[in-house]
Amino acid sequence: MSTYVETVPTEDINEKKFSLPDLRSALESQSSIPSLEQIYDWLGSAEISPEELSPYSAFKEGNYWRHRVCRNQFVEMLVLCWRPGQRTPIHDHNGSHGGVKIWAGMLWETTFSFDPVTGLEYKSAREYAPTEVTGSDIPDIHQLGNPDVSGQDLITIHVYAPPLGVLHTYKPGSAKIDLYIPDDSENLPNI
Ligand SMILES: [Fe+2]
Repeated sequence: MSTYVETVPTEDINEKKFSLPDLRSALESQSSIPSLEQIYDWLGSAEISPEELSPYSAFKEGNYWRHRVCRNQFVEMLVLCWRPGQRTPIHDHNGSHGGVKIWAGMLWETTFSFDPVTGLEYKSAREYAPTEVTGSDIPDIHQLGNPDVSGQDLITIHVYAPPLGVLHTYKPGSAKIDLYIPDDSENLPNI
């Protein structure tokens, strides 16, 4: 008795690793808005070195620091640097979806549900360690942060599609929705 064994390609596309320049090239070559699944694939495959990250790893007191790596009409990439105790407002992405990869430290994410009558309600909380990837679809409501008890800095890599514009912000127990524009006024001059 003979057995026929089909030859299959051995190349595994999942083995491709993306440096920061690779990731930037992939994003800059987009001609449409990439799916959330595509963003998860990119971030999951990213292996960003300390040297590649160093132009974007700077912290400030008072608020987390957003450093933009690249942006076009379809997608953007940011590096966010958080001291302990720094966190976002509770927000949604107003029509964008996005993924986050933890590069160093521990990210805490809290998610919420919203009812126009009863307002915002706590839903769940999770923490993410380095190399883990999380994200939010439309219309997820969440808050990200580096808790003050973490005792360490946090660095995260973010990809949003389309790029973030004006976000919606929320308060627990309230049905009021406010508008919020992330602060890009202090981007590093070499970015
Ligand atoms: Fe967000």
